[in-house]
Amino acid sequence: MKTILVPGGAGYIGSHTVLDLIKKGFNPIIVDDFSNSSKKVITILEELSGEKINFYEMDIKNKEGLRKIFRENKIDAVINFAGFKAVGESVEKPLMYYENNLFGMITLLEVMKEFNVKNIVFSSSATVYGVSEKVPFVETDPMGEVTNPYGRTKVIIEHILMDLAKSDNTWNIIALRYFNPLGAHESGRIGEDPNGIPNNLSPYITQVAVGKLDYVRVFGDDYETKDGTGVRDYIHVLDLALGHIKAIKKFEDSKAVRIYNLGTGEGYSVLDMIKNFEEVTGKKIKYVVTPRRSGDIAECYADSTKAKEELGWEAKYGIREMCEDSWRWQLNNPNGYED
Ligand code: UD1
Repeated sequence: MKTILVPGGAGYIGSHTVLDLIKKGFNPIIVDDFSNSSKKVITILEELSGEKINFYEMDIKNKEGLRKIFRENKIDAVINFAGFKAVGESVEKPLMYYENNLFGMITLLEVMKEFNVKNIVFSSSATVYGVSEKVPFVETDPMGEVTNPYGRTKVIIEHILMDLAKSDNTWNIIALRYFNPLGAHESGRIGEDPNGIPNNLSPYITQVAVGKLDYVRVFGDDYETKDGTGVRDYIHVLDLALGHIKAIKKFEDSKAVRIYNLGTGEGYSVLDMIKNFEEVTGKKIKYVVTPRRSGDIAECYADSTKAKEELGWEAKYGIREMCEDSWRWQLNNPNGYED
């Protein structure tokens, strides 16, 4: 396992994974259409790694283009990060989400099959557990009632992968269910760069701290949690990146389809997060409590025992480092990758 194709490798989790792959001696090849990422990431990755980054500017729905990449390179495995990820946008534009996320994945799998490359890691999400109240979430829990098209694309792709493995036992498939990603590379040069006003809590808080937004809206303080606000399992993006390296190494074992949660197992409330960011930034972060956001659940955190036992993976970073690293990125790049 040496040459790894990384669709979506210029994105938030993808770029951190590419850097870690290089560090561990792999040869990553990025495929990205930069529709939701910046070309600048390539130059920054080259500066951070000291290596030339191989990349193709292309949409993975371009089957002929993908075939060309497989012809030009001897690819051993694929880590697919390519996909749209904004929940609200998926509700407004469901067809765009289904078309992009599902057709992208299917096209990729078809071409992999043609070239007999049958090792794939897929970016799934804790969202597949749906509106369940039973925490922590374990991989054996049923996939739940998902409230939006984005989440449904994750559920459907997991089903597609399981059907594929059933039809042909030479596939080696790992779906990683990420909990809530946070943090950035310690250089502060790559990080999360949401389009427009962020949907997720952490970039929202850091944009308030940096003065771009006025206050955080806390979506509900009447949940059955320690302080009434929603509790989530925040995980450092560098820990997530490492999870992918461990998954690639697992491909050297027997062929199978495997699913792993990647979380810390610790839950933090919205108010905990505001407090942590206040301490890290040294700024008062204004907030206003608003009604609950539809589709949200009270608590979501992982049981990651399976990843620990089978992949030898465990989250290393704590909440303080996550907040510090997110803040360094935000402070150095108030407008993300824009000048
Ligand atoms: C959301 C998505 C999930 C996706 C994940 C990716 C929903 C319902 N779920 O998870 O499908 O995989 O992002 O990272 O959108 N909050 C506020 N104010 C804000 C933003 C969030 O109070 O401005 C609260 C939320 O109510 C929640 C917590 O902060 O309790 C985390 O929210 P968020 O960062 O949006 O992540 P999730 O909703 O957990």
